[in-house]
Amino acid sequence: MNQEKKDRKGTVLFSKYTRGEAIKKALSQTREDILFELRESKLKGRGGAGFPTATKWTIVAAATSKTKYVICNADEGEPGTFKDRVLLLEYPELVLDGMVVAGYTIGAENGIIYLRGEYEYMKKSLEDYLHEMRKDKLLGRDILNKKNFNFDVTIRMGSGAYVCGEETALIESLEGNRGEARNRPPYPVNTGLMGAPTVVNNVETLASVSHIVTKGGLWFKKYGTDKSTGSKLFSVSGDCEKPGVYELPWGTQISEMLEIVGAKNTKAVQVGGASGTCIPKSGFNRILAYEDAATGGSIMIFNESRNMLHVLKNFMEFFVDESCGQCTPCRIGNVKLLEGIELLEHGKCTFSYLSQLKELGRTMQIASKCGLGQSSPNSFISILDNFKEEIFDGNGGSYGK
Ligand SMILES: Cc1cc2nc3c(=O)[nH]c(=O)nc-3n(C[C@H](O)[C@H](O)[C@H](O)COP(=O)(O)O)c2cc1C
Ligand code: SF4
Repeated sequence: MNQEKKDRKGTVLFSKYTRGEAIKKALSQTREDILFELRESKLKGRGGAGFPTATKWTIVAAATSKTKYVICNADEGEPGTFKDRVLLLEYPELVLDGMVVAGYTIGAENGIIYLRGEYEYMKKSLEDYLHEMRKDKLLGRDILNKKNFNFDVTIRMGSGAYVCGEETALIESLEGNRGEARNRPPYPVNTGLMGAPTVVNNVETLASVSHIVTKGGLWFKKYGTDKSTGSKLFSVSGDCEKPGVYELPWGTQISEMLEIVGAKNTKAVQVGGASGTCIPKSGFNRILAYEDAATGGSIMIFNESRNMLHVLKNFMEFFVDESCGQCTPCRIGNVKLLEGIELLEHGKCTFSYLSQLKELGRTMQIASKCGLGQSSPNSFISILDNFKEEIFDGNGGSYGK
């Protein structure tokens, strides 16, 4: 396994950690102790939705079912996100130890890594790593000689669809069905894989757990803001001198981040991937945090040379392709938004039709069945709101009433 750390700097996730540390510490504690530290840390899920991890684990821990599952969501399909890849390749000990701790805390014996189809190339090295863990009694039966604590992990390949990263579609895909979102409730914590209570966590969430268990919830929440504790990995791409994966505390201002990555003449920052929000220069004093500019980690930088209508068209084409088609607001809505962009390109979209499209976007946010259709209009609305002048002037301004 290539565990070269490439000189990464960071105060929390990239801080010192020794393989097996969190498992050892967890096994010396009660499940309630671990849940207490997690609550204390105020850790929120890093997969995008920001759900409190302690709440999720507490529900599954309390379930009486004999079978429970821990799923590591390594689908990493959001455009512009590549930080889970770095964790899995360079810091597998953090992710895997976090999964074992989850198994111990909620009373599960089975863990599954749902690995993005395009990450097939890292499957072998992850399997070798799991093998080493079994040899060191960090996986398998009676882990670290703790009687009756059995937990093992298998790797399952993702099916190549963006929606399969959505936790219920992911579970459907694991069950051998089409990757389509389920109606919720019931939630996976109650009725998850094969109907059993299931914790689904992002790769980075599980990696954060290993540090919290080792160093404590109080230590973790020293970093970040009151509502967004700890640090975050950001996958930075686009117009900057130093694209890559950065660990920064939550609460970092967008302008600070732009300076760190060497971005110049920046016109817009897309925070949260294609389904996120496009922030113009006037918003660069905003902070990266759940309570302000929230993101699962994707940051795309656009400089003055970029055409924002082209950027938007690219995002909407992605959503038209990736909509699973189950529900009307998303299946038809994304097509209508894309058609609107094409009209804009040709200077044939009237202002009144454009405001109807924005209204359609807002309806999609409310009426779509899953997070894909609920968030796909975000970039449409924010780019059209924030870059009106550029889009209208750049297209001859012939929009009529
Ligand atoms: C369309 C869509 C794609 C998603 N893709 C991912 C993904 O690739 N990785 C991920 O961790 N969460 C993804 N999520 C969020 C998951 O549904 C879920 O909230 C998350 O895995 C829970 O883990 P967390 O609590 O640790 O954040 C996606 C959600 C949607 C709606
Ligand atoms: S919102 Fe889109 S991706 Fe989600 S269920 Fe509906 S059609 Fe499928």
